[in-house]
Amino acid sequence: MTPRVLITGATGFLGRHLLQALHAQHTPAAALVRRASAWGSEPWHGEVGKVQLIEGEPLATESWRSSAALGGVRSIVHAAGMVRHTRSAPEEMLDFNVRGTLNMVQLAAQLGARLVFVSSSGTVGCFRSPDIRAEEDAPYAEALSGRWPYYASKIRAEREAKALAERLGVQLSIVRPPVLLGPGDHRRRSTGYVQKVLDGKVPVVPSGGMHFTDVRDVARALARLSEIDAPRPVYHLPGTASTLREFFAMVTEVSGAPVVERPLPRWAALGLAQIANLGGKLHPALPDPVVLEMATCFWGLTSLFAHELGYQPRPGRQTLCDTVNWLRANPSASHGTTARRRRSAVVQHVSPGV
Ligand SMILES: NC(=O)c1ccc[n+]([C@@H]2O[C@H](COP(=O)([O-])OP(=O)(O)OC[C@H]3O[C@@H](n4cnc5c(N)ncnc54)[C@H](OP(=O)(O)O)[C@@H]3O)[C@@H](O)[C@H]2O)c1
Repeated sequence: MTPRVLITGATGFLGRHLLQALHAQHTPAAALVRRASAWGSEPWHGEVGKVQLIEGEPLATESWRSSAALGGVRSIVHAAGMVRHTRSAPEEMLDFNVRGTLNMVQLAAQLGARLVFVSSSGTVGCFRSPDIRAEEDAPYAEALSGRWPYYASKIRAEREAKALAERLGVQLSIVRPPVLLGPGDHRRRSTGYVQKVLDGKVPVVPSGGMHFTDVRDVARALARLSEIDAPRPVYHLPGTASTLREFFAMVTEVSGAPVVERPLPRWAALGLAQIANLGGKLHPALPDPVVLEMATCFWGLTSLFAHELGYQPRPGRQTLCDTVNWLRANPSASHGTTARRRRSAVVQHVSPGV
């Protein structure tokens, strides 16, 4: 069948779930992948139905933008993105996240398709206090999250994509999810923190917050968005917001992992980050200074429109249970031993509402 939706980032955590969601709603999809020959060895490729593969990269569209497979594409979901929470060598990420998105606007104009751009809640929903929530029309959080290269790249990508889409007459929808958790993060880029708690490798509890949602619910909302009439320019997909202390406690509760207790006050986190930013060496168990700074902030998000996408995130504990179960059942090479030891402790699903 001729693909109606083109996905970038199809080999990532969100991308694989998005392909599954499109398959479930019978929407034929094409996927832009760096190496088509590697597709068959993706452990999940059998779960996403028949996908038309297009080999290429968002930064080099000349080689693939005339592909016959794009003929029936009515929506592009641009989920490819680089996520690095550090100030070291940000150029590649900035270039990929901004220019890659602008190229997708150009492609959408060429195909007469709409573009759905997967951005991040942190472009607007980052605060020093836990009580504030950003709605879809909130201003960019440049003074806070704009200091960190990843969010700066997403803010710039959003702004420039919007301006270009207006100029070229492309229908653009920007989607801002918080941290994605759930099963199937085969590269462990998104669920790394949960894994660290399971491994007892979180030495301190910073003073800030966490906001996460379920990758499967986001994928379903994106699949819906790719097909509805008259989509809105921005959608927030909020999930479960808490302090980091509460988040670690939830992971501990659903997994039986050791409790993380030692608090790291805001002044101490910022002091350590400052030392590292000035070239000082931190204890190896401590994360990058950007992560320390981020861990003093709160991530407030709310939505006026997410219900129009049928978005109703499942309870956070359910997502955490499924994340923990999946991580334990699928140990990465470096976690094999720990996981084998703990496999017997696979947790029970928590019923919705618990
Ligand atoms: N995960 C989260 O918590 C979260 C939260 C909010 C927003 N987001 C956004 O959601 C999107 C998907 O995130 P994810 O968690 O699925 O990320 P992921 O698992 O790291 O997957 C990233 C995808 O982008 C592709 N990609 C990365 N760098 C590339 C490059 N230089 N050239 C070509 N392709 C490249 C990867 O291709 P390869 O497989 O070939 O590397 C992969 O398909 C991203 O835009 C991210 O910013 C994620």
